[in-house]
Amino acid sequence: MSKVVIFDHPLIQHKLTIMRNKYTSSKDFRELVSEIAMLMTYEITRDLPLKDVEVDTPICTTKAKKLAGKKLAVVPILRAGLGMVDGVVKMIPSARIGHIGLYRDEETLQPVEYYCKLPKDISDREVIVVDPMLATGGSAIDAVTQIKLRNPKSIKFMGLIAAPEGVEALTKAHPDVDVYCAALDEKLNEKGYIVPGLGDAGDRIFGTK
Ligand code: PRP
Ligand code: URA
Repeated sequence: MSKVVIFDHPLIQHKLTIMRNKYTSSKDFRELVSEIAMLMTYEITRDLPLKDVEVDTPICTTKAKKLAGKKLAVVPILRAGLGMVDGVVKMIPSARIGHIGLYRDEETLQPVEYYCKLPKDISDREVIVVDPMLATGGSAIDAVTQIKLRNPKSIKFMGLIAAPEGVEALTKAHPDVDVYCAALDEKLNEKGYIVPGLGDAGDRIFGTK
C-alpha cells in the first residue's frame, strides 16, 4: 500500500501560500516552486543509506558518513514538473534526469503523451517523479506506467498540491508508489482544477496566460 505524506513544514507551508496568491509574479512563482522542491527533497531523502568512511580533517583522521551511492533519477512531467527539477538536483547533483511530456486534454481531462526520454540505466535507479499538481491523477498514473515499463528499482511521486481524487486514483493504480505532497486540497472543480489550488501551474511557471 502506498504511503501518503503531506509535508507540514512551516517553510513549505509559507512558500506555498505565496504561490497560491493569484497576484504572485511568474518570477516569484518559479523561484518558490524550486525552493519547495528543494525542501521536499531534503525530507524525501531521509532514508538514503549511509556508509562509514575515513576522512582526514586538518586536525586528525576520523570516521565519518557518506551517502552509500544509491542511484537516483528525477523525472519531471512536462511542462510544470520542470519547475521542480532544479530544486531536486541542487540537493542530489548526481541524479540523472528523464522527461515525460504529457498534457491534459481540456475536454476529456485524459492525459496525452507527446514525449518520453528516460536515463538508459533507469533499471538501476530509484525514481522520483515530480509534478506540482496531482488533480485527477491521470497524468501521474500515465507517467508512472511509462516508467515501470523500464523496470526502475522504485518510484516515488513528489508534488505540491494534491486533490483527494488524484491521491485516491494514483494510489489505487500504483499501490507500490509513495506519494509526497505539500498540501491536500479540498476537491476538483467541474473543469478538473484543484480547489482552492493555485490555478494552472504550467501557465504560472512559464507565464503563458
Ligand atoms: C497539469 C499538471 C499535471 C496535470 C495534472 O499539466 O502539471 O501534469 O495537469 O492533472 P491530472 O492529475 O488531472 O492529470 P497540464 O496538463 O496543464 O500540462 P502543462 O504542464 O503542459 O500545462
Ligand atoms: N493542472 C493544474 O495545473 N492545475 C490544476 O488545478 C489541475 C491540473
